[in-house]
Amino acid sequence: MEKKMKKLNTHHQNAPRFVFNWTLLLFSASVSAISITTTAPPQPFDYADALAKSLLYFESQRSGRLPYNQRVTWRDHSGLTDGLEQGVDLVGGYYDAGDHVKFGLPMAFTVTMLSWGIIQFHDEIAIAGELEQTLEAIKWGTDYFIKEHTSPNVLWAEVGDGDTDHYCWQRPEDMTTSRQAYKIDQNNPGSDLAGETAAAMAAASIAFKKTNPHYSHLLLHHAQELFEFGDKYRGKYDGSVAVAKSYYASVIGYMDELLWAAVWLFEATDKEEYLNYVVDNGGCFGGIGWAISEFSWDVKYAGLLDKDQHKQHAHILKQYRSKAEYYLCSCLNKNNDTDDNVDRSPGGLLYVRQWNNMQYVTTAAFLLTIYSDFLRDSNQNLHCPSGTVDHEESLSFAKSQVDYILGSNPMNMSYLVGYGSKYPTRVHHRGASIMSYRE
Ligand SMILES: *[C@@H]1O[C@H](CO)[C@@H](O)[C@H](O)[C@H]1NC(C)=O
Ligand SMILES: *[C@@H]1O[C@H](CO)[C@@H](O)[C@H](O)[C@H]1NC(C)=O
Repeated sequence: MEKKMKKLNTHHQNAPRFVFNWTLLLFSASVSAISITTTAPPQPFDYADALAKSLLYFESQRSGRLPYNQRVTWRDHSGLTDGLEQGVDLVGGYYDAGDHVKFGLPMAFTVTMLSWGIIQFHDEIAIAGELEQTLEAIKWGTDYFIKEHTSPNVLWAEVGDGDTDHYCWQRPEDMTTSRQAYKIDQNNPGSDLAGETAAAMAAASIAFKKTNPHYSHLLLHHAQELFEFGDKYRGKYDGSVAVAKSYYASVIGYMDELLWAAVWLFEATDKEEYLNYVVDNGGCFGGIGWAISEFSWDVKYAGLLDKDQHKQHAHILKQYRSKAEYYLCSCLNKNNDTDDNVDRSPGGLLYVRQWNNMQYVTTAAFLLTIYSDFLRDSNQNLHCPSGTVDHEESLSFAKSQVDYILGSNPMNMSYLVGYGSKYPTRVHHRGASIMSYRE
């Protein structure tokens, strides 16, 4: 299985990816807890500023009718007839990367991760003054997921398609390319997409529980229905929505998303049935039998971390955890066989694959940070095959990856657009590369 996962490195497509910079969310306030043990002068990275810039990115990706308080003012309303041909209202959501397709799977994963960020680092985000913006970014996604889910067993999966979208370099406000919408239903299943969207809505329901209980409830209702739909009608969504296949193919399949959805539903509801699902399907769904060095919109297994709270299932849940630990050790370069570790660039950046590598770096930094907190709070160490790692080492490696992105790299350049004094200025992004709509 492990070798098979490595092979994945070659399959990936040439489309830009949406999932990008949410991980910066968590570094807002945790810096004070880090003791930097290097002789070089510490880089004065402003994580709160990086967090703010990451959230602005989500505004630049907005599709639909923009609100009065839109801060990215070179954008305007767009995609206002999305779904019209099919008789559904699919206005809203997020565009993918620099293009104008709305791809359900990576969009949902992004919203799951934003929600996880706020669940785990609520206070830090609040101290950075970005709580409201983060919730807005989540809600822009979940409002759209509610629209996509038009009946219990129907979920609209995509608007537009990558091929025709690539014909024209236009602002989203001027789009003339196809806005055909595609769905999954009981005859055309998509357990991965239904599972990820369920996970996103369940996680978001936790994020909104205090501030917007009615909305939280609504999200949970959709999440439960979607999970049932995905579980009952099994299949990969790219078998049903062929246009997704050359852009966001579900290479690993849907079992990780079903487990991931069940984990989030358990978190959101405390209902035993969801935990039992995770325990009962651990073996046959590959939850406890894999060794993977990637956590991404396609591959969720490493996110199935357990915190050891459920004594009666301790045996199975421990196996889940040991798999997550394999992933963490591989990021930390602490598995014995080099093939079992994630490659690093000469400058020390985790390197998973050629296209949009930074998404794997940010997901790794996210999990390493969460795990560091877990180790600290439970007074444990992570025992990797070639060495033991304590919570400080896990966090400082995560920090090194984020610092690389923000400028601590051989180019002395920030890879977060708008952050710092030197950053890429000719990114693959249509809206940003054409004169403002307002000029
Ligand atoms: C990994 O290497 C260490 C030290 O070289 C050795 O003690 C350990 O037994 C090895 N572990 C495995 C699982 O091979
Ligand atoms: C990056 O900064 C370091 C330290 O100031 C300097 O030695 C190096 O030449 C810089 N590299 C580039 C590509 O500017």
